[in-house]
Amino acid sequence: MNIENKLAAMTIDEKVGQLVQLAPFFYVKDIQQQIFGHVRDLGISEERIYRTGSVLGIGSAKEMIEVQKTYLEQSTAKIPLLFMADIIHGYETIFPVPLALASSFNPDLAFKVARISAIEASTAGIHVTFSPMADIARDPRWGRVVESFGEDPYLNYVFAYNMTEGYQNDGIEKDGNLVSCVKHVAAYGKSEAGRDYNTVDLSRLSLLNDHLDGYKGSIDAGARMAMTSFNTVDYVPATVNKDLLDGVLRGILGFDGVTISDYDSLNQVIAHGVAQDSKEAAKLGLEAGLDIEMASTCYIKHVKSLIEQGKLDMKRLDEAVLRVLKLKDQVGLFENPYKGANEELEKACVGSKAHMDQALTVALECPVLLKNRQGVLPIKGKRIALIGSHAKTKDTNGPWSWRGKAAINTALDRALKQEGMDVVSAEDRWEERSDLANCDVIVLAIGEHSDESGEAHSKAGIGLKHEDVLWYQYAKSFEKPLVVIIYAGRPLVIEEILAADAIMWAWFLGSKGNEALAKLIKGEVSPSGKLPMSMPRHQGQIPIYYNHLKTGRPKKGANDQNPFVSFYLDVENEPRFPFGFGLSYASFTYENLTLSKRLMDPSDRLVISVDVRNESPVAGMETVQLYLQDEYARIARPVKQLKRFQKIRFAGHETKTITFSITLADLTYRDASGRSIYDTGTFRVMVGSNARDCLVETFELEEGRNT
Ligand code: GLC
Repeated sequence: MNIENKLAAMTIDEKVGQLVQLAPFFYVKDIQQQIFGHVRDLGISEERIYRTGSVLGIGSAKEMIEVQKTYLEQSTAKIPLLFMADIIHGYETIFPVPLALASSFNPDLAFKVARISAIEASTAGIHVTFSPMADIARDPRWGRVVESFGEDPYLNYVFAYNMTEGYQNDGIEKDGNLVSCVKHVAAYGKSEAGRDYNTVDLSRLSLLNDHLDGYKGSIDAGARMAMTSFNTVDYVPATVNKDLLDGVLRGILGFDGVTISDYDSLNQVIAHGVAQDSKEAAKLGLEAGLDIEMASTCYIKHVKSLIEQGKLDMKRLDEAVLRVLKLKDQVGLFENPYKGANEELEKACVGSKAHMDQALTVALECPVLLKNRQGVLPIKGKRIALIGSHAKTKDTNGPWSWRGKAAINTALDRALKQEGMDVVSAEDRWEERSDLANCDVIVLAIGEHSDESGEAHSKAGIGLKHEDVLWYQYAKSFEKPLVVIIYAGRPLVIEEILAADAIMWAWFLGSKGNEALAKLIKGEVSPSGKLPMSMPRHQGQIPIYYNHLKTGRPKKGANDQNPFVSFYLDVENEPRFPFGFGLSYASFTYENLTLSKRLMDPSDRLVISVDVRNESPVAGMETVQLYLQDEYARIARPVKQLKRFQKIRFAGHETKTITFSITLADLTYRDASGRSIYDTGTFRVMVGSNARDCLVETFELEEGRNT
């Protein structure tokens, strides 16, 4: 297909139409899609509907074929629709929410989740997924931390890279693959006070050094689309921010795909007070480099007249339309407008047992064991009293679980019984229950429900519910070993229940979540998850993250008596549980941290090794983490930054030497222009099982010997 010729043959109305995205019910009236009211009232004429370029959300191969067929019959330019949807952590087979997936510290699982999601969703004729969400998340009050890969730039980079690789796989033109649309550009996770859609204000250097790596990971993996965020960046809404879209996204990150607004976010530039009306919003959007407008009508109503009045350059329109046509050509739509849609395959693979088995495999590596006093877990050969608000929960899919049906999930009590465990379960707090009282161990299941996190679901308070604390006090009244399982879409403040003997963070693990928990509780598998976000001890600490700057008055440890340092009168500075923290049924010790050299030339490779020993007879997996600190530079640098990690399996009493290698690229940071720069001097190398507990060595980066 000669795209340039196609463009040249299009009328201006047909060109503008390619930049418009609507919901499927505009084409087939009885399609029941959860589309918000204002989209229905967009006031778009029948004629214009048959000139749009893409569709948001479709529910089956049958629907897609019907919409595409109806569209092509009516449209003049005969350019097939592109079908897009939010496949975030599964299509019908639901995997752990992205924050839980990040807890696995196993990027191969991210690839697997994206692969299976793409295989299932593409059979419905979906071509694009609005994933990965790669916003750095440092504020657990923000509902969308559940969709993120947490607080660390490197972890975000690695997981976003593998998600995009998994979606796009061996080519977006192939059946079974999806176009990956990375989002939300940029820094949406810095919404002030953790309140969704709130103001974002950050320095240029923070944008470039703390918030871009996730998007970069997806772009480096070849993402063909990027979605703009609702928020402002440098006081300009991202959706019309030319410096962000042209300068940072396309310039610094090298993105060359199609940009799309978030839902109605072009129209919302008016609410931001940066456009007087939708006409001005349309002009700002195209001039900033926004290609597709999702779920609003600024472009369709005004671009033609702006160009005819000489207020907008036709070049801007042609550039955007050319990118959209190229993407449709790369997907193969001109050869096959029904690409991917396959009702037989849909029936055979969507939600299949093989996929569900994979969902279990992934879920097993995501829960985080925060405490396990005297090996209360795993529970073997004991009678369990399972109580709490979540004792029989099936609500494990979490937000954005698309076609996942919680009703088919296995409840926790049933999952434990399926593992052959002796369980008495109760959801009601009964004063005297002899059958509970004569159990050996209490398992208390509490926490959030799926609808307490996700988009537009932020919380000012992130403590445990009063009901959960009452459950805990009831459980303690039995004076038995007590295991607490906490379901959540975010870190929570859990000070009231810290005296429990064991605490397992269960996130929302997807379709097979409770089966995974049961296998971990039984000890068939040892927990291996690590926290992708710091767990506060008090919500007054928020935002709290490990890779913070030193400040001029750092508190030097808990015993620092200097009153004039950065600290609170009432709470320690440190989180309750640090980034990267997670226990196993095995126990690991670290020694012999060794560097291949103490003086590093910019052209050198530095090899770092450490011995890790499993002190227990129990097999387990450990994620060995490598952090670096640039002690002295032209700008203040974080006290430490994750630069590598390896998740390693250990047999009982096994010792392994783990090695990492780093180069100059791992020591650089971006200056205000986005250029990567470095500083000579001392670097600290920290290797350990989390951001707090590390062995430390140092090396000197010298001026280049060959410069
Ligand atoms: C929503 C979300 C975005 C999603 C889009 C389409 O408002 O912000 O993440 O992809 O709209 O559903």
